[in-house]
Amino acid sequence: MCGIFGYKGTRDNASEIVVEGLKRLDYRGYDSWGVGVATGSELSVQKQVGKISEVHDGMHFPSAHTAIAHTRWATTGAVTQANAHPHMSADGSFILAQNGIVENFSELKKSLREKGYEFKSETDTEVIVRLIEEVSKTESPFLEAIRQAFLQLEGRNTIIILTKEGEIYAARNGSPLVAGLDSHTGDIFLSSDTLSFAAQADQMVVIENNQLVKVGTDQKLELFDAKTGASCSYKWEPINISTGTIDKEGFDHFMAKEIHETPSVIKQIVHQDRTKMTQLAEAVKNAHQVYVVGCGTAGFAAYQTAFYLRVFGKVNAISLIGADVLSYYPLFQKGDLIIAPSQSGETADVIEVLEYAKKIGMQIASLVNMPGSMMTRMSDFPFMCNAGPEICVMSTKVFSSQITWGYLLAKTVQGKYEEGRENLTRLSDEIEKYLTDGEKLQQVQDLAALIASREHIFLLGKYQNFAVMSEGMVKIVEASYKHAHAIQAGDLKHYAITLMEKGIPVIVAVSEDEVKNDVMTAINEVRLRGAEVIAIASKKEDNFDHFLHVADTGETSALFNVIPLQLLAYYLAVALGNNVDKPRNIAKSVTVK
Ligand code: G6P
Repeated sequence: MCGIFGYKGTRDNASEIVVEGLKRLDYRGYDSWGVGVATGSELSVQKQVGKISEVHDGMHFPSAHTAIAHTRWATTGAVTQANAHPHMSADGSFILAQNGIVENFSELKKSLREKGYEFKSETDTEVIVRLIEEVSKTESPFLEAIRQAFLQLEGRNTIIILTKEGEIYAARNGSPLVAGLDSHTGDIFLSSDTLSFAAQADQMVVIENNQLVKVGTDQKLELFDAKTGASCSYKWEPINISTGTIDKEGFDHFMAKEIHETPSVIKQIVHQDRTKMTQLAEAVKNAHQVYVVGCGTAGFAAYQTAFYLRVFGKVNAISLIGADVLSYYPLFQKGDLIIAPSQSGETADVIEVLEYAKKIGMQIASLVNMPGSMMTRMSDFPFMCNAGPEICVMSTKVFSSQITWGYLLAKTVQGKYEEGRENLTRLSDEIEKYLTDGEKLQQVQDLAALIASREHIFLLGKYQNFAVMSEGMVKIVEASYKHAHAIQAGDLKHYAITLMEKGIPVIVAVSEDEVKNDVMTAINEVRLRGAEVIAIASKKEDNFDHFLHVADTGETSALFNVIPLQLLAYYLAVALGNNVDKPRNIAKSVTVK
């Protein structure tokens, strides 16, 4: 993963500009950070273990018009200062940072070592630096040396380079890269996402895979084909993203703020372009087979979407976890449709599946929150969540937006688009009431305090509620660092019943649907063994130990049940003193396999 940021322009505080950019990228990883500036005659670099967001004072850079920066999610090499990017060439003429993994780095390192190169870090990124040094011995200009070195790298990697003369070079393969322009000053930005420079630039261009970038001392952006070296044309496009909401707006954490934004996020989905939705619904109906694919939270959004497509759309839809699709490749064929929900639109495991699907002529639909993503550009049916920036690394409002969209798509396939919209409008209003009811929030907070000391937390769900309970498990694991386990209510008796004993909290979603009796049976089974049941339901039943009341919203009940689960995870993180918006070890955008 990692985030990269670069600036070249008229302002002489380049280090401050890239630090600010980096702070907006640290959702991509926060193990360590590094900043380098070019003064025209030399490079000055500072690197530190920890989060860039914790840096306030103490950084002293010479004034400069050009800088690059990197925030790291460690993949190759431990979390140390030596392994932090950027890495410098032996002669001090350039520094380089990478977002990605060089899969053949061991072979390259071995051969460079044999040639006498020495390494100061354990990273694959330093291997790229030494490789460029080696190629530069015989190839010039510098752009050509970078190009030839880049072509030797295997894997998905995007690099950014700063020379001491103040030129920036970059190359993209897989991991995202976007350029920004302030058309008033001509200042140029390079970054892993558009949002990080959207407040300072008014135009953007998405760098394509296998393109090289040069921003020379004349401050002009040039693009080249990495395979041939030929110059590429490009066109600046206006940036149309709101940047006004990067603020907690009175909430203690972004996670709380983002959960509270769910009603308006649902309304964004309700107001999606009907024609586009209808076109996709037609494609779904005509597809030979529909696959819905995602990773992590988006994997459970895929599960819920496929559920709705089967139940309402009567469509043969299967959900797949992006990292484990290989066994389906022999079944993939032209005429199939693949749907990918993804907050980032850059998740490597999903991109790989989409690339394969595209190659064999399958159609692709995507639902992405981040503008300008690779998935959007690969799609025949590109949809945007329009949920606004989600800053907390744990996804909440975007998950709600994904499953809401999945529901509306299924209703459109069913021929009941208007009914779907009405149901969602009511759902949004009911969630709004819930989130503004202090007593309800207090109940969830009290339950979080109660279970914060327990080591194991179980979640039961069936039918419409299994995927959302599984996502509840994901949120609890991410927020609390505790063991949580979601089980199909009907499957409990086959194995996990052995774990039920006094003091075990079991969170259960009980909707007024066709499986309610089965779920009530499971509740009895766990209570008989001493477990304590926390029910999320619209009707109180005698065998609930704790009752979190939610409105009965009929066929959208599961979409509602997500909210108390997300809140429970939030209050657990707060009760345990964990870093709510940046849980340990995870990143929001996962561009490595
Ligand atoms: C990471 C994030 C998850 C996310 C998953 C897939 O693991 O922490 O929140 O669900 O990646 O990301 P995507 O961008 O495809 O939704």
